[in-house]
Amino acid sequence: MTANEIRDSFVKFFESKGHLIVPSAPMVIKDDPTLMFTNAGMNQFKDIILGNRPATSKRCTDSQKCLRVSGKHNDLEEVGHDTYHHTMFEMLGNWSFGDYFKKEAIEWAWEYLVDVLKIDKSNLYATVFEGSPEEGLERDNEAASYWEKFLPADHIINGNKHDNFWEMGATGPCGPCSEIHIDLRPEEEKAKVPGRELVNKDNPLVIEIWNLVFMQYNRKADQTLEPLPAKVIDTGMGFERLCAVMQGKRSNYDTDVFQPIIKVIGDLSDCRYGEDAKKDVAMRVVADHLRTIAFSIADGQLPGNAKAGYVIRRILRRAVRYAYTFLGQKEAFMYKLLPVLVQEMGKSYPELEAQKVLISKVMKEEEDSFLRTLETGIRLLDRVMAETRASGKTVIDGVEAFTLFDTYGFPLDLTELICRENGMTVDEETFHAEMQKQKERARNAAAVETGDWVVVKEGETEFKGWDYTEHECHILRYRKVTQKKQTFYQIVLDYTPFYAEMGGQVGDRGVLCSEHETIEIVDTKRENNLPVHIAKTLPEHPEADFMACVDTDLRAASEANHTCTHLLDQALRTVLGEHVEQKGSLVTPEYLRFDFSHFQKVTDEQLREVE
Ligand code: SER
Repeated sequence: MTANEIRDSFVKFFESKGHLIVPSAPMVIKDDPTLMFTNAGMNQFKDIILGNRPATSKRCTDSQKCLRVSGKHNDLEEVGHDTYHHTMFEMLGNWSFGDYFKKEAIEWAWEYLVDVLKIDKSNLYATVFEGSPEEGLERDNEAASYWEKFLPADHIINGNKHDNFWEMGATGPCGPCSEIHIDLRPEEEKAKVPGRELVNKDNPLVIEIWNLVFMQYNRKADQTLEPLPAKVIDTGMGFERLCAVMQGKRSNYDTDVFQPIIKVIGDLSDCRYGEDAKKDVAMRVVADHLRTIAFSIADGQLPGNAKAGYVIRRILRRAVRYAYTFLGQKEAFMYKLLPVLVQEMGKSYPELEAQKVLISKVMKEEEDSFLRTLETGIRLLDRVMAETRASGKTVIDGVEAFTLFDTYGFPLDLTELICRENGMTVDEETFHAEMQKQKERARNAAAVETGDWVVVKEGETEFKGWDYTEHECHILRYRKVTQKKQTFYQIVLDYTPFYAEMGGQVGDRGVLCSEHETIEIVDTKRENNLPVHIAKTLPEHPEADFMACVDTDLRAASEANHTCTHLLDQALRTVLGEHVEQKGSLVTPEYLRFDFSHFQKVTDEQLREVE
């Protein structure tokens, strides 16, 4: 089966079991403060799982683009060095929202792998959660009993909390899980060491392919578990790994998902995959990162200086550096790989085809600019080496190596490589100490502490802002949030005329007044689709009757700027072309900002025309 056939067969199988096939959500997440990128198929269903939104269908299936390069699930440093981790990968999944649970999830997984795909069952292993006394959780005997119908006892393995209790992040939906592992080693090796001893031991040929999560809890900020409103099945199968299994390959990179790309990398850099270990790593890095960068740009996340944009920029730079060092690519070349990617994946993901001109221009521009930085860094390193040599030493200062890393994107191995070529070494200890200091700085800057919600009154929020700028209301719940040493309170109301930040327009400001007090609302934000009012102080009488009043002068000014944003968008398309797409927008009472995609600097003349 080809990769495209495998993807199709999965969703069709679950469609035959009453599941609705849904499209992949974008890989870039814009409205969930706990995640930058989609890191699992379940992200797009988080609101349904938490009971904040009803499910359109109680059974769904899809293939979801995922990225694991930040936060709880981060595989970046492994990528390229092994044969089965990726930054971007596709996750095949099936879901039940309060419908079927463990029994069907396990039976159908088995039916699909063994009856439909005809995978040899003697190579399969299943893990079950062994329980955790400190959390008060027992072994998942129920899951084990269903596996016993299909697998001999020595193919069912107990697993600990780390491997068999799945959590999306520090807080949120979670539950015990059963992983399916496959042993792909040759028979003589299997005879020597049984597969069960290698499950979850980082053996590249005994790997997890599918994770069946039985979500039944929500992890709260104080780390306790509360039961979810309805039990949920969330399964995720590694698509690229499944392709390797089905195509009889030892490595994901040997499948038709990656081989066409690797072939072009080889053609462009005059080398062949499989001949030189270092070049192979570099080719895998480039092939993997190409997909991540192209899909991120297609989803609207361009490389940039901060947050998600910076993550993408770092991935692109990692690829450029490997290509520069090991494949001899001194000029931009990744963008030349885009046509083969579009040819292979454009049919399943039309956004790639639609955005290919933009992706190509943005990639080339980023590559060019980083290569210039690399050259500057190399000149700096030359100077440092010369000075070190002049002072009679052969070890360059770790602080200098860290500056090269931090400012010029030179990872330690590149600096060491260049130093080695010049008969020198790097003081690694100082380098790592500097790195540690920087990590702590970053952690302190980013740390957000959210308290648990304090419920004042049960109920739902209704937005009244289309017709009113003042409205009677009650506080439903509030919580305390601390970020960068500042504390504020989030307040949810039953009725609100406050417009929450959306479409670039900033959230309303105003006041909440009761007979006892007046609370200033400094902003209104949207969190998981809910308008949340931000206050610096907490109401002393939260249960009182309140009047919510929007500052109408500020609102009117924002509205006017919002209208202008749409006029500007149209003017840009008229003057620069229809490819112009909004990439970000900020509308405040004072001014508007509009980010858009265009492959060149806008000329002064065009700017005048737009104005
Ligand atoms: N959420 C689980 C995972 O990512 C199963 O889909 O592994």
